[in-house]
Amino acid sequence: MIAVVGSVNRDLVARVEHHPVPGETVLGSGHETMPGGKGANQAVAAARLGSDVVFIGRIGADEAGRDLIGEFEREGVDVSHLTVDPEAPSGLAIITVDDAGENSIVVSTGANGRVSPSDVEGASAVLMAATVTLLQLEIPMDAVLAAATGSEGIVILNAAPAAHLSAELLSAIDVLVVNRGELATLTGSGDPGSARSLPVPVTVVTLGADGARIVRADTGESVAAMETTPVDTTGAGDTFCGVLAAGLDDGLSLESSVKRAVVAGSMAVMAIGARTGMPTGPELEGALRTLGS
Ligand code: RIB
Repeated sequence: MIAVVGSVNRDLVARVEHHPVPGETVLGSGHETMPGGKGANQAVAAARLGSDVVFIGRIGADEAGRDLIGEFEREGVDVSHLTVDPEAPSGLAIITVDDAGENSIVVSTGANGRVSPSDVEGASAVLMAATVTLLQLEIPMDAVLAAATGSEGIVILNAAPAAHLSAELLSAIDVLVVNRGELATLTGSGDPGSARSLPVPVTVVTLGADGARIVRADTGESVAAMETTPVDTTGAGDTFCGVLAAGLDDGLSLESSVKRAVVAGSMAVMAIGARTGMPTGPELEGALRTLGS
């Protein structure tokens, strides 16, 4: 079983030719609301592959919250530890996607900002039983730390959005997942090799169209991505993390899990919206067969 402690948002997605610079107004070509949030997207990515997933987080007592719970239930994610916050609204992400498929995101955290160590303690039986605990940084750091230190299984931290991490949190992580920008926040360099300076057993650096690099103290292995023309890169990293967690939960090696995650991440960029292109198990197996992996 996988425990995901994290955020859930409603995404408001608009397509633009280019992202606005400060002070600029750009005209978009339509918008849509979609389910999102890094934690929730990662939970759904793992559930689509057939993993048992329990989500721990907070949502508002509003229409968005009700819709987002419905999405979790349709995807088969256990929401028995998702608290409906009586005061804060559901999280909202305002996303623009340009013609190159690149996104720009502003998150109004809402109820996600009120996930607390006591919410995490309330789910301690889940965290003790989980094979994998999957974390991100869209909820308060004290809740992330409580989840990392309160878990018995493999702890994966996707350090997104970029932030500095305490020594205490780093020491509780088994697998750190970062992109180049997040890595640069932690080490001062976006070079994957710089991950060796971090006190974690393994760092997986996601490299977009260049795949990923698995960095350990004395080894580094590159995993190539599938060639695609991206429509929307939103959620590609979340798909990667959810599929990585699903692989480890299934008992696969880190290397095999990363290979599957890279392919799934490439599939995710082929449609607009964080979850639209996320593959199901059979879709991922089909792509892996085609690639001969
Ligand atoms: O990683 C993509 C996600 O980031 C979006 O779904 C948005 O909600 C933000 O949390």
